[in-house]
Amino acid sequence: MVLIKNEMNIGIIGSGTMGSGIAQIAATYDCTVHVYDINAEALEISKTKLEKILNRLIEKGRIDEAEKNKIQSNIKYVNQLSDLADSHLVIEAIVENLDIKQKVFKELEELVTSDCILASNTSSLSVTSIASACKDASRFIGIHFFNPAPLMKLVEIIPAIQTSDETLQKSLEIINSWHKTTVVAKDTPGFIVNKVARPFYGEATKILEEMDHTTENLQLIDEAMRDKGFRMGPFQLMDYIGNDVNYTVSETVYKAFYNDGRYRPSMAQKRLSEAGYLGKKSGRGWYDYSDIQEENNTEHSPIALIEIGDRIVTMLINEAADTLHRKIATKEDIDLAMTKGVNYPKGLLSWADEIGIQVCVDRMDALYDEYREERYRCSPLLRTLAREKRNFYNQEI
Ligand code: NAI
Repeated sequence: MVLIKNEMNIGIIGSGTMGSGIAQIAATYDCTVHVYDINAEALEISKTKLEKILNRLIEKGRIDEAEKNKIQSNIKYVNQLSDLADSHLVIEAIVENLDIKQKVFKELEELVTSDCILASNTSSLSVTSIASACKDASRFIGIHFFNPAPLMKLVEIIPAIQTSDETLQKSLEIINSWHKTTVVAKDTPGFIVNKVARPFYGEATKILEEMDHTTENLQLIDEAMRDKGFRMGPFQLMDYIGNDVNYTVSETVYKAFYNDGRYRPSMAQKRLSEAGYLGKKSGRGWYDYSDIQEENNTEHSPIALIEIGDRIVTMLINEAADTLHRKIATKEDIDLAMTKGVNYPKGLLSWADEIGIQVCVDRMDALYDEYREERYRCSPLLRTLAREKRNFYNQEI
């Protein structure tokens, strides 16, 4: 089947945050989009929100009235799953629950044509386990967008173990035609971004555990990471994402890796979440937004800033190296995922080359010697490269 862009029919299941954003993207690139939701009110909300978003884009001069009309007329809001029958690709973005997703795909598979690609936007479930509900699991794939979908460039494409190469290639072709940057990841917990990013939060909270939970210390750690080129510090970002959401991702990845101590979530963050200190959305998180100015006015010791920054960056590099070592993705895709998906200042593996692989190994080993905790286990790949005096980008691995 040759897919002609303008004639593509895209089905979206779930008109919440993600489904609405994905529908907007597909409609922008001239697809006919059918959006279905079990809840009629959610469809209405999605429609109203899109109107607001498009009006804002007009105000900013990004689109004109004609483009707005095109996008809106390309989207049909429907109240039956059978209205998605003519789709070439259906992307599901409903509640993150395996049983419910499997039930929906079982029903959907009976309605669509045999060459329709079935995709889930799941961020934490195994794609393979959702695919197993389908009679023909070879046409099933994970297509993972980031929030807000229309703005975030990255999309992770996750073939299940049952997925055919044809399904993978067609999915890449479609999502690339929507001007997204695609990376391919093995079906492992957190895929690339949500796995590799764990130490950004985990190591920051670990460092804080050994200090008093004062605004000044939070700002010290945040500043250390901004000095490394990150747009936001870990605590700022956790408060922005929501401590409930961020904690859940950490816990999910931890459990999915069979409680590997390397991913152990932060108890302090769990407590914040339990207390309802969710972050910006609740007025208080790591920071108390009622009485602080977020900007940092305190002069921090340069040595402390470098030490903290180096430690967290090295932990991130180690996680990226582990991701390559487990062949979850290529080195290029791992670096692309972190720069495009979460706006890291540099790809972590090329950063490792810059710092020096041996330096990274030494830093990991020093932390391990100090703490004797699994989280500081140096990736065997880093160790091998250091021993052979190689790096990530100059030679083939
Ligand atoms: P949401 O809660 O905003 O929207 C989910 C929508 O699905 C709701 O409108 C709900 O009425 C509808 N729904 C629930 N069960 C349904 C069913 N059986 N049939 C049809 N519609 C049904 O959720 P959100 O945040 O958009 O997440 C959707 C999916 O995307 C989840 O799998 C989530 O893990 C994933 N995801 C979420 C991201 C985020 O930042 N919110 C980022 C990337 C992936």
